[in-house]
Amino acid sequence: MTTLIVLPETDPSNPSLSTSDAGAITIHLGSIGIRFEQWTAGKPLADSADQDEVLAAYASDVARIKAQGFSTVDVARIAGDPDDPAFLAKAAEARAKFLAEHTHADDEVRFFVEGRGAFYLRIGGSVHIVICEAGDYLSVPKNTNHWFDMGTRPRFTAIRFFAIEDGWVGNFTGDPIAQRFPTFDQLVSPAR
Ligand SMILES: [Fe+2]
Repeated sequence: MTTLIVLPETDPSNPSLSTSDAGAITIHLGSIGIRFEQWTAGKPLADSADQDEVLAAYASDVARIKAQGFSTVDVARIAGDPDDPAFLAKAAEARAKFLAEHTHADDEVRFFVEGRGAFYLRIGGSVHIVICEAGDYLSVPKNTNHWFDMGTRPRFTAIRFFAIEDGWVGNFTGDPIAQRFPTFDQLVSPAR
């Protein structure tokens, strides 16, 4: 279930908000400049499905969003056998890339079509954690400090929309703040 957890920067163990109500999530995120919507997803995708197959499966959504001014679309996808050490090693490498706080010169616009992952958005003295699932559409304004955790046994597919031709370029802040906040694994399986 899509979940929003708001933790003060200075007190990550003391949530000021935690909700899985889609309406409440939309309103809260809207109040800090984040556009959040829920669409229909769930088309079957084989582990072997490549970018073109994912984009074809969601062609009408892709066309609709692209028409809003996005020049480039790609697919971030981590899919494989979670018991395969080779897959887990590759996944760990991918996870590390997004795990440190960074910003972009472009809006971060994502449509999750499979699996889940957690965005951590640092805005106004709090870290707003959005655990996204299939069907979630999120648009984070450029220059927002954030990071992303897919967990140690990741599975997700997200269609990414870019207004700038360069695609994904992260500007890392060098702030180790992410290390003070609960990981995706801790959020989804607190007792582990
Ligand atoms: Fe990012």
